[in-house]
Amino acid sequence: MSAILDFMSNWISVGYLFSAILFIMGLKKLGHPRTAPRGNQLGALGMLVAVVVTVASMQLEGGAQWTLIIAGMAIGSLIGYWMAVRVEMTGMPEMVALFNGFGGAASALVALSETWKYIDGGTIPAGLELTVTMVAAGLSALVGWMTLTGSLLAMYKLKGGVEIFGKWIKTPTWGPAWLNPVKIILLISVAVLIYMSISEPTNSDYLWAIIGISCVLGIILVLPIGGADMPVVVSLLNSLSGIAAAFTGFIFSNSVLIVAGSLVGASGIILTFIMCKAMNRRLIDVLFKSFGGSGEKVDLTRTKVGSDADEVAMMIDGARKVIIIPGYGMAVSQCQHQVKEFADLITEKYDTEVKYAIHPVAGRMPGHMNVLLAEANVPYEQLIEMDEINSEFPDCDVAVVIGANDTTNPAARSGEGPLAGMPIIDVDAARTVVIIKRSLSVGYAGVDNDLFYMDKTMMLFGDGKKMMTALNNSIKEN
Ligand code: TAP
Repeated sequence: MSAILDFMSNWISVGYLFSAILFIMGLKKLGHPRTAPRGNQLGALGMLVAVVVTVASMQLEGGAQWTLIIAGMAIGSLIGYWMAVRVEMTGMPEMVALFNGFGGAASALVALSETWKYIDGGTIPAGLELTVTMVAAGLSALVGWMTLTGSLLAMYKLKGGVEIFGKWIKTPTWGPAWLNPVKIILLISVAVLIYMSISEPTNSDYLWAIIGISCVLGIILVLPIGGADMPVVVSLLNSLSGIAAAFTGFIFSNSVLIVAGSLVGASGIILTFIMCKAMNRRLIDVLFKSFGGSGEKVDLTRTKVGSDADEVAMMIDGARKVIIIPGYGMAVSQCQHQVKEFADLITEKYDTEVKYAIHPVAGRMPGHMNVLLAEANVPYEQLIEMDEINSEFPDCDVAVVIGANDTTNPAARSGEGPLAGMPIIDVDAARTVVIIKRSLSVGYAGVDNDLFYMDKTMMLFGDGKKMMTALNNSIKEN
C-alpha cells in the first residue's frame, strides 16, 4: 500500500511540474498578439492539469468531497460562461478588475478555512510549522481581502460610478495627505495581529480584525487614485491576486499554487512597472501622492466648427504618409474594421504609407488597441509603439485620431493636472490632424484638449463607426 502511495505522490509532483511548465510556456506566448491565443490555451490546460492532480491527491489522502467539488465547478463554470458571453468588449477592463478581486478573495478564503480548523478544535501544529502557517495565512488574508475591496472599487472607478436604486452615483476620488500615515498604521496593525495570532491560533478575533483592516486598506489604497493612473492600479491589483495565491500555497506546501501565484505576482508587477513607465510615474507616487487627479470633468467653454467626411476625404487625397491614432472611442464604437478598410483604401488608391501609433495606455486595458486591430487583421508590423513613432510625426501629412483623447493631449506636457508628465503621442507635430469623436468632451482624465482647437485640426464629430464609414464612402467616390 505504501509503495502505491509513494508512486502516486511522485505522479502528483510530476503533474504539478507539468502544469507549471504549461503556465510558463503560456505566459511566454502571451507576450505577442500572434501567439497570445495559444498562450491562453496552454495556461488553461495547465490549470486543468493542476485541478485534476489536486483532486486526485485529495482522493488519495482520504477521499475528495465529490458533491462539493462538482457543484462548485458546475456553478463556477456557468457563472463564468454567462459573464464571458454577456460582457461587451468595452466592459472587459471592469471584468478583469472584478476577476482580480475574486482571485484575491478565493485565496484568502482558502487560507481562512485552514486556520479556522484550529478554532474548530483541529490539531494545531507546533513550532516553526505553526509560525509559517499563521504568517502565510495572515499575509494571504491581508493581500487577498485588500485585493477584493480594492478591485471592486477599481471596477466602479473604471465604470465611472455605481447605480444604486436607479440613481447613478459617481465613484469618488479622495485622498487627503493624512490618509498616508493611516495606511502605514493599518499595515503595522496587521503585522502585529499576525504576530499575536501565532501565540493564540484559536482566537478568531485576530482573524476578523485582520480581515476588517485589510478590507479598509484596499479601499483607502485605491480611493485616491483616479484619472490616468488607473491602469497602474489595475495591474498592481492583478499582481496582488497572484501574491495572495502564493501565500496560500505556503500554508499547504502546494507547489503548483506557489508557482502559479508567483508567476501572476511577478508578471503583474512587471506590467505595473511598464504602466508606470508609460505614465512617467513612480509606483510609490501613484500609491501615495494621489497623482491621477480627481477625474472631475472641467467645464468646456471653447467651441470648434466641425468638418464633414467629404472635406476630410479631399484633404487625404494625395497624402503620402498617414498615421492612425486609435483610442478608447474606437473600442466603444467598435470601428476597427472600418479603420482597416480606410487604411487599405488609401494605400490602394493613393499609394499612401499607413502606420498606427499605439500608446501603452490607450483604451482601458493593456494591449486594448492591439487586440482590436488584430481582430480586424491589421498587420502587426504596422502597429508602432509610441516611443518609436513619435519622431515620425513631423514627416506625417495627416494624423487621424480615432476616439483617442488623453493619450494625445498636450496638457500632459505642462507638468500640471491629472495628466502631468504622461508621455503622449506627438500628434500635434503632424501637418494636419483629423479627430473623429462625438463632441469636444474630455477623455478619461477629465482634461480639456488643446489639440481640438488648433488651426491644423479638423474635427469630424460623430460616432467612430458612422464617421469612418462615411469617410470610406467619400474616399471611394472621390
Ligand atoms: P480617452 O482619453 O478615454 O478618450 C476617449 C474618447 O473617445 C473620449 O473623449 C470620447 O469623446 C471618445 N468616444 C467615446 N465614444 C466614442 C464613439 N462611440 N465614437 C467616437 N469617439 C468616442 O481615450 P484614450 O486617449 O485612449 O486614453 C485612455 C485613458 O484611459 C487614459 O487616461 C488612460 O490612463 C485611461 N485608462 C487606461 C487604461 C489602460 S490599461 N489602457 C486603464 C484604465 C484607464 P466623445 O465623448 O466626444 O465621443
